[in-house]
Amino acid sequence: MDEQRLIETAQALVAGDRGLLAMDESTGTCNKRFAPLGIAQTPEARRAYRDMIVTTPRLGESISGAILYDETIRQQTLAGVPFAQALEAAGIVPGIKVDKGTKPLAGHPGELVTEGLDGLRERLAEYVSMGARFAKWRAVITIGPGIPTRGCIEANAHALARYAGLCQEAGLVPIVEPEVLMDGDHGLQRCADATAETLHEVFLQLRAQRVRLEGMLLKPNMVLPGLAAAEQADVDAVADATVRCLLRNVPAAMPGVAFLSGGQSARLASARLNAMNVKYRSRVPWALAFSYARALQQPALEAWRGEAANVPAAQQALRHRAECNRAARRGRYDADRDAAPGDGDGEGATLAAAQSMAPAQGDPNRADAKRGAPRQR
Ligand code: 13P
Repeated sequence: MDEQRLIETAQALVAGDRGLLAMDESTGTCNKRFAPLGIAQTPEARRAYRDMIVTTPRLGESISGAILYDETIRQQTLAGVPFAQALEAAGIVPGIKVDKGTKPLAGHPGELVTEGLDGLRERLAEYVSMGARFAKWRAVITIGPGIPTRGCIEANAHALARYAGLCQEAGLVPIVEPEVLMDGDHGLQRCADATAETLHEVFLQLRAQRVRLEGMLLKPNMVLPGLAAAEQADVDAVADATVRCLLRNVPAAMPGVAFLSGGQSARLASARLNAMNVKYRSRVPWALAFSYARALQQPALEAWRGEAANVPAAQQALRHRAECNRAARRGRYDADRDAAPGDGDGEGATLAAAQSMAPAQGDPNRADAKRGAPRQR
């Protein structure tokens, strides 16, 4: 293990104001996103979609790393460049999802465990040879009557730690993703409790497996009420609960927190990240960054719809969301001026809004603490 290289890669992924793009949907999940839009569910359609993403002009200004899927890392742009190399050329570090998805956890009705440890050492070696420099493994924790159980949290945390150890052995920075799902009608506090218990166990297991905290990243959920909860929380309440939970359970040696979006709207995901950086950026030991899939991609997917003629509009939509989240890292996202195409609120696209949030020349990373957190949308 080249520890210094691991640390440098982990730090580079969350340096400045850029963040990660998760484009690692499994074939099944990608097809599920394509189906409602009438997009063909074929390897070529998935390749064309990922081609649109990877070739987006100036994406590297806002995106530090992109997470690929096994099928995608073996595919190429129309110009014949493997996606991992095309990303590197765009200034984006290529990564790879290495878990094999979830299965029901035996003896634990309603709960899931992530599989993929068997043969992982060999698969990691192949991904390294294909250009990957970091990896991702997602564990899923479900909130419901009587769940999550200790058994589920321990099994998933143990697998995450085993995966992280193998990644570091192979020279890959592990992104450790324990996702407490938003599904359900539970309140904010239940999510806070489940997230706290999960993170506490994850870091115990990471320690037991001798994972170097300086050479990894955490990809957690934000602390949110369930999607079906009667009472939704405002942006500041989510920011406060999330940072409080992280401060209590995440060691300072770990360089960065890159949130998943988990089914939040694109604009809420930006607004909540922004509020955390406005209020806490100077008081937390880790970078507060993003590693969104849906909250970055959905407007672009809806603009693309499988048509080559729509590629420029889709790329504009993707760049817009990436720039909004880059602004959120600086605490400069302005929800009132962000009218994102395809975000379900009927407003038109105003790329100018995100451009106006771009950093001033010569002052790329300054957080503007004077600007208040945006209103809830
Ligand atoms: P979402 O941002 O859509 O939750 O996806 C993030 C991710 O990588 C899930 O594993």
